Amino acid sequence: MISSGLGQLGVECAKYLRNKYGRENVILSDIIKPTEEIIKDGPYIFVDILDFKGLQKIVVDHRVDWLIHFSALLSAIGEQNVPLAVRVNIEGMHNVIELAKQYKLRIFVPSTIGAFGPDSPRNPTPNITVQRPRTIYGVSKVHAELLGEYYFYKFGLDFRCLRFPGVISSDPPGGGTTDYAIAVFHDVLRKGSYQCYLRPDTRLPMMHVRDALRALSEYLEVPNERLNRRVYNVTSMSFTPEELTEKMFKYVPEFNITYKPDSRQEIADSWPQVFDDSEARRDWDWKPEVDLDNLVKIMVKEVKEKIADGC
Ligand SMILES: NC(=O)c1ccc[n+]([C@@H]2O[C@H](COP(=O)([O-])OP(=O)(O)OC[C@H]3O[C@@H](n4cnc5c(N)ncnc54)[C@H](O)[C@@H]3O)[C@@H](O)[C@H]2O)c1
Repeated sequence: MISSGLGQLGVECAKYLRNKYGRENVILSDIIKPTEEIIKDGPYIFVDILDFKGLQKIVVDHRVDWLIHFSALLSAIGEQNVPLAVRVNIEGMHNVIELAKQYKLRIFVPSTIGAFGPDSPRNPTPNITVQRPRTIYGVSKVHAELLGEYYFYKFGLDFRCLRFPGVISSDPPGGGTTDYAIAVFHDVLRKGSYQCYLRPDTRLPMMHVRDALRALSEYLEVPNERLNRRVYNVTSMSFTPEELTEKMFKYVPEFNITYKPDSRQEIADSWPQVFDDSEARRDWDWKPEVDLDNLVKIMVKEVKEKIADGC
């Protein structure tokens, strides 16, 4: 089961895992009313991550054995509603970790570059280092990482976690600090211009969604004996808004970018610039495939298709 699966990552993740494990074997869940297309794609059920009994019922009724826990208010959105972020990100995590323990589920929880803060080394940021994030999103993710590790050592729970960088796909993003790298394609291809909320030289680690899902899927299958950690950094590349838009000129010869940094700049300035994923590469042979040139090519094609489809 994928919890909170109707966001940027969940829908694609369900497609990816259904291809691998069969349509009926992957259940998507969220609190949002699904589209026709979602229903056609495979099983979908309502579940509020704050409702422990509701979660229990689904695990029992559907004999769930593996939980991919995507529920979270992301960095920028979380700062706008801290009490709700505390509930969804922290209480939600308490619910699923207890559930996983009670029903012996394997559990995957994504973390983020946002789990680091201004005291962390930023270039590169190693797997194990100082983590003092300054957003509620980051604080809740450090909490999730530590709680998961604790349940692994204390109860033998098969908890796995990857710290993703900004994930780029043509689907609408959920309110994170790296979203500009998606919005720029939509605005440039629709309107010929984009106003970026980060400075042109803001370097952040990024990854195309194909690599993110392949990392997730490969990591889930690694035998426990090969894992030296339960939490791994993964990444594909790092770039700035200026470097990204430079590459876009190959496909869109004329467009206009302006810069008007807002509160997200402060968040980005406290995050890793270059992410060190050497431990994932060493322990389970992680290797990214989509580089910046490829990412731009894929995004231009997919966003153009979305526009042609009227999305
Ligand atoms: N997208 C990225 O760039 C990125 C990067 C690093 C880590 N991650 C992590 O991956 C996960 C998925 O991210 P995403 O970008 O798909 O998020 P998203 O914001 O697009 O989707 C989050 C989903 O949570 C659902 N939700 C909110 N409150 C809920 C509740 N009470 N009960 C059930 N569902 C609820 C929403 O309906 C939404 O569909 C998150 O945990 C995020 O921290 C994402």
